Amino acid sequence: MIVAALPGDGIGPEITRAGIAVLREVRPDVECVEAPVGGDALARGLPALPDETRALCDRAAAILFGSVGLPAYDGKPLQERPEYALFLLRRDYELFANVRPVRVFPGLEDASTLKPELVRGLDLVVVRELTGGIYFGKPKEQRVVDGIEEAVDTMIYRAPEIERIARVAFEIARGRRRRVTSVDKQNILETSRLWRRVVTRVAAEYPDVELDHLLVDNAAMQLVRRPRDFCVIVTENMFGDILSDEAAILTGSIGTLPSASLGTRRDGKFGLFEPIGGSAPDIAGRGVANPTASILSAALLLRHALDDEENAARVERAVERVYAGGTRTAELVARGEKAVTTAAFTDAVLSQLE
Ligand code: IPM
Ligand code: MN
Repeated sequence: MIVAALPGDGIGPEITRAGIAVLREVRPDVECVEAPVGGDALARGLPALPDETRALCDRAAAILFGSVGLPAYDGKPLQERPEYALFLLRRDYELFANVRPVRVFPGLEDASTLKPELVRGLDLVVVRELTGGIYFGKPKEQRVVDGIEEAVDTMIYRAPEIERIARVAFEIARGRRRRVTSVDKQNILETSRLWRRVVTRVAAEYPDVELDHLLVDNAAMQLVRRPRDFCVIVTENMFGDILSDEAAILTGSIGTLPSASLGTRRDGKFGLFEPIGGSAPDIAGRGVANPTASILSAALLLRHALDDEENAARVERAVERVYAGGTRTAELVARGEKAVTTAAFTDAVLSQLE
């Protein structure tokens, strides 16, 4: 079995190394094969998603992704940007369900910008629709009309796209506290009115799960007011992008959070597993980035793509123990405390695997 490891840009390579190390340790039978993606590929004169990288993904059981994006490409059209690789992978493998679990590790409550008592025990999942909405709708272009520059993006949803992501959310809720909050902007957007209607219809198939609806502006506020009340949040692509960053920082560091992007390939098992945080070029190459998100992405890969719940849980417990023991990377240390490097944090996790 092969896992395609695509380290990418910025801190991507250094944190993906950690995810690979953990995968190798718990599953020596799985071969991690690396390939260039994003700005790393562009710098080699290749497209953001080179053919060979795509061919590797085609024969892989899953993708362990790092991150893409570099300031050098700001202002370039999408097709010439590192992010285009992610756009293509999501679109072409139909990875419509982006699952972003947000947890505050015991011991890290003080790292949050919110009061510790608001985030203690926080445990929610953002389920973001990933292949529709304004990211992909056409027309999508910049043009000059009557001598005036304009630009258009199109937010469009078809009912089956909403149905399938709603089902993912309800299924996840069944394994948790059985609550789904659907987020939309139905007071203004037609797509949101369709969204709310379809989610409500799907909810009838899950009478054991409680559903409520929030407008996205209100949801953004409630997330910082009473974050622990949320169990599963389901929302369209762009709202999910924004709210998942907001939810992520509740934990004190976006560097701790993994995600799974799942679709229909290989009976829904094929997926792309990646840290939520970006490429963080400001701290790249210094060996100080927090590798937790990549290590936990490897855990999600074990669980979803390799059906290996045992090792997934083993990795997650090891990370918990490392935090409980006080080991911290730079962005999480309190004043006066000592930070460990990316490599040292990774070694700590490896040594905590029981
Ligand atoms: C994410 C990222 C991407 C997105 C970017 C890199 C295109 O922010 O996965 O959340 O907007 O989806
Ligand atoms: Mn994002």
